Amino acid sequence: MSNRTPLIAGNWKMNAGGQDGLDLAKAVAGAAAKASVTVVVSPPSISLGAVAKIAEAQGGQLGVAAQNIHEKESGAFTGEISAGMAKGTGAGWTLVGHSERRQYFGESDEQVGLKVAAALQAALRPIACIGETLEEREANQTLEVCCRQVDAFSEQLKADPGHVVIAYEPVWAIGTGKVATPEQAQEVHAGIRAHLAKTVGEDVAAKTLILYGGSVKPANAAELLSCADIDGALVGGASLKAESFIGIIEAV
Ligand code: PGA
Repeated sequence: MSNRTPLIAGNWKMNAGGQDGLDLAKAVAGAAAKASVTVVVSPPSISLGAVAKIAEAQGGQLGVAAQNIHEKESGAFTGEISAGMAKGTGAGWTLVGHSERRQYFGESDEQVGLKVAAALQAALRPIACIGETLEEREANQTLEVCCRQVDAFSEQLKADPGHVVIAYEPVWAIGTGKVATPEQAQEVHAGIRAHLAKTVGEDVAAKTLILYGGSVKPANAAELLSCADIDGALVGGASLKAESFIGIIEAV
């Protein structure tokens, strides 16, 4: 058993951007206040400030994360928000490098590294997402791909031990209902942690939270999280209903 406090994060993606999100945040904040794990929600950026206010009003136990930030502090980047702006809403976290950002918006490993650095610079805790596609898994490249993606922010892992969270999300398991088996997930998590021990040191490897993401639900959360190297979950679909997200928090 590690002494890493588990983290359950909900990624709302481009959903729940209005009153529905505020109601959801209220319900989750109530559950977070009673939980022994860290709970974070990641609403669309348009409601970051409103959700952060709800979190604060309910005692500040619920963490709030942006879904994406730009790597620069400011400038002519229409439609983007900087890490400092996200921080200014009251958010304390940000996702970085989600596979949908990589796939649909062309984010490179290098850019993900810059975003992790920008987040830390603005005192936001980054949750950096990595993971292989089905094609890469079938070609036995899972660990190679994950380690390459981690290497893009290894300097930041080292500079601030335990501050950067890694989320391993096999792309083939996201939104598909195809969850990795606990054995499959644990194998990759252990491989990533061993790679960290080698590249950034045992201490950083032991302190770094590695979350699993991809079709996590109340019914499979406890088993996944009982694995030695799985320190929490990044939840998409099942985080959009208070009942199922709270079910995951309670299962842990
Ligand atoms: P999912 O999404 O739980 O709907 O598979 C996970 C994610 O994309 O973070």
